[in-house]
Amino acid sequence: MRTVAADMGNADLRAWLTEEDPVQLDRLYTAADAARSAAVGPEVHLRGLIEISNACTRACAYCGISVHNHAIQRYRMGRHEILECARRAKELGYGTVVMQAGEDPLLTRAFIADLVRAIKCETGLAITLSLGERSREDLIAWREAGADRYLLRFETSNPALFARIHPEAHQPAASGQRPAASGQDEVPRIAMLRQLQELGYQAGTGVMVGIPGQTWDDLVGDLRTFQKLDIEMIGVGPYIPHPATPLAHDFDGVAEHGQQVPNTVLVALKMVALARLLVPDANIPATTAVATLNKETGREDALKAGANVVMPNLTPPAYRALYEIYPDKACVNETAEQCHSCLAARIHSVGRCIGAGPGAAPKTHRRTAS
Ligand code: 5AD
Ligand code: FES
Repeated sequence: MRTVAADMGNADLRAWLTEEDPVQLDRLYTAADAARSAAVGPEVHLRGLIEISNACTRACAYCGISVHNHAIQRYRMGRHEILECARRAKELGYGTVVMQAGEDPLLTRAFIADLVRAIKCETGLAITLSLGERSREDLIAWREAGADRYLLRFETSNPALFARIHPEAHQPAASGQRPAASGQDEVPRIAMLRQLQELGYQAGTGVMVGIPGQTWDDLVGDLRTFQKLDIEMIGVGPYIPHPATPLAHDFDGVAEHGQQVPNTVLVALKMVALARLLVPDANIPATTAVATLNKETGREDALKAGANVVMPNLTPPAYRALYEIYPDKACVNETAEQCHSCLAARIHSVGRCIGAGPGAAPKTHRRTAS
């Protein structure tokens, strides 16, 4: 019988990724759920997500808020509005707030540092930033101000595919130098992830599955990259074509017959399970993209396949629809309270409980202790 354990070889990983037999898939999810239970327990941690700006100077070929999209209205939340959302997070019992935005140079080093200090001081919550590729100086300043975590998905570990979906020269949004690429066989964001870990951040990353041109071997490479980085958080979601983006109209890149990964919830769930088995003590969210393609049971299915985190949306309703990175995004019409009770019910329905406190991955404690 095919191995389903932390020491799976690449051939096993590939075979699991293409598996379709429900009996076999049940074995995979059961093993991942057991690994999740042993490594991080029954708690599901809630990270309150605040989408603070949809302005972006980058041209990512898949993303609905990239600079390509002239049709959307851009917004940037003010300090007061963001602080209000952070207070809401505290009231709702969340341990963490995540501030996410496009790569927006007007979210300056000083503005974010001040915000981080204010949120820390007032709420004591763990603070995660997800503001794109920023300079080392920015990252140092925000860490000093009290930011705990940073999320930056590398999207794909295949450098040629990465370059194709990130067409423009990579320059930092703010001043300072981007970290030098550590080798041509690595996508450039890996160097920034290492830099984040070196600066004392808990670093999160992730990939999309089903990008045109993405192969099964690319996904094996993604899983090996999570392992290599010993990363604290791993987010996986299906690629969802957005009609206002170049990639939605570009079919040239589709991989050879049988090699193209489909952009399905099924593949995303298999990636969640395999990521859990390979990096057992990581935090793994049930992502919004999974919930978007399966609104009925997507989050629950991910929680049963190895996930232990969800990210309820706290963005004020007026801005939510404008943060349309892909179409028909889950939770666009809900309020913070609705998302909170929706997620609490879903967590309880799969026999789990809501975690208290910041919910750092166990490996963080190991690192801090050593
Ligand atoms: N489909 C699915 N996920 C997307 N993201 C951006 N655009 C899309 C899309 N069209 C994901 C990327 C990014 C995260 C914030 O959202 O992985 O890192
Ligand atoms: Fe937002 Fe369910 S989490 S509506």
